[in-house]
Amino acid sequence: MTKSATPPGGWRIPLSSPSIDSQDVAAVEAVLVGGRLASGPAIEQFETVSSESLGRPSVLCSSGTAGLVLALRALGVTGGEVITPALGFIATAHAIRAVGATPRFCDVDPQTLCVGIEQLEAAWSPDVSAVIPVDLLGVPAPMTDIMTLAAGRDVPVIEDACEALGSSMDGVACGTAADAGVFGFYPNKIITMGEGGLVACRDESLAARVRQLANQGRSGAGFCFDGEGYNFRITEMQAALGTSQWRRLDDFIEARQHIAGRYLEGLQGLAGIDPTPAPVLAGPGNRRSWFAFIVLVEDSAWRDPLSHKLAAAGIETGLYFPSIADFRPYDEAPSAPLPVTSELSPRMLALPFHSGLGLDRVDEVVSVVGESLDQIRTDG
Ligand SMILES: Cc1ncc(COP(=O)(O)O)c(C=O)c1O
Repeated sequence: MTKSATPPGGWRIPLSSPSIDSQDVAAVEAVLVGGRLASGPAIEQFETVSSESLGRPSVLCSSGTAGLVLALRALGVTGGEVITPALGFIATAHAIRAVGATPRFCDVDPQTLCVGIEQLEAAWSPDVSAVIPVDLLGVPAPMTDIMTLAAGRDVPVIEDACEALGSSMDGVACGTAADAGVFGFYPNKIITMGEGGLVACRDESLAARVRQLANQGRSGAGFCFDGEGYNFRITEMQAALGTSQWRRLDDFIEARQHIAGRYLEGLQGLAGIDPTPAPVLAGPGNRRSWFAFIVLVEDSAWRDPLSHKLAAAGIETGLYFPSIADFRPYDEAPSAPLPVTSELSPRMLALPFHSGLGLDRVDEVVSVVGESLDQIRTDG
């Protein structure tokens, strides 16, 4: 369990919550009333908006996980070892295995919680067929260096940017630096479609392969099945919601930055906690689009009691991220040593965080965290 069980009546302050306005509702309703529910203009419209904004041809699909599978397949990765960080969400490893490859886990840089060159080098093996760095929690992985290393070793790179729509480093948007970048639109993400994913591709020919794989191997309209494929399509309702949400992307990012700032201010100086396991990015061309707000508890033994005390006050928390290498399907997967992941993961606690979270709620969470930690530390 990485989330506390929902109490009867729900959480007073939930971990996350989508921000849906009347225009979102109207956009979905218009599709329903129009009657074309699949493979239509709403999908084309979203892809136009996302491709223009990202500066890369991008293809919608049913989820971030599906997007990773499509990107791997389109790049010809069907075996070998794919290096990805152990600190993250299990979907990345599942996608690697789904295409017939083996995840090979690397550690993360303690400053960014993302894989750096040092960790990538330490994990390398002769069987590496691809690399999937993850922009964890909206922090950009060092893509320029990773791309140089991977190019020298002739392996493709897929940037898992599911948590980083809107983040950028040195003016390069997350999800646009690698051969393919993948985004996800689950309701806890920066923008949502309920479920959904997007693959931003380095060129039109890769985008065409992704599109074909996502649509039963079709190379055009009708019954022209020229390749293998899946049904990883998305509905028109989801795409319409996505376009409507994208309209507010900058507002969401700003609201989240503001909320994160309030947390950082409030938690600063609280004994027993480090509120900044990953940095606030400063400087021109750098932007962190916060996905979640995570604190590091000084002593891992305090983490679960703290979560319980917050739950008793109606505040939902998340115990993430556990190391993917510790889950049963991957406990025998090849791995580099993971000292940073092993040290940080059991100390991580996600606090309530979403675009609509009021600052008074943030203050309340901070004060319950402070009081609870004092009690836990006193009780020993
Ligand atoms: C880093 C990362 N990769 C992949 C995924 C999978 O995305 P989805 O849930 O849309 O399949 C997620 C979703 O939470 C994620 O956080």
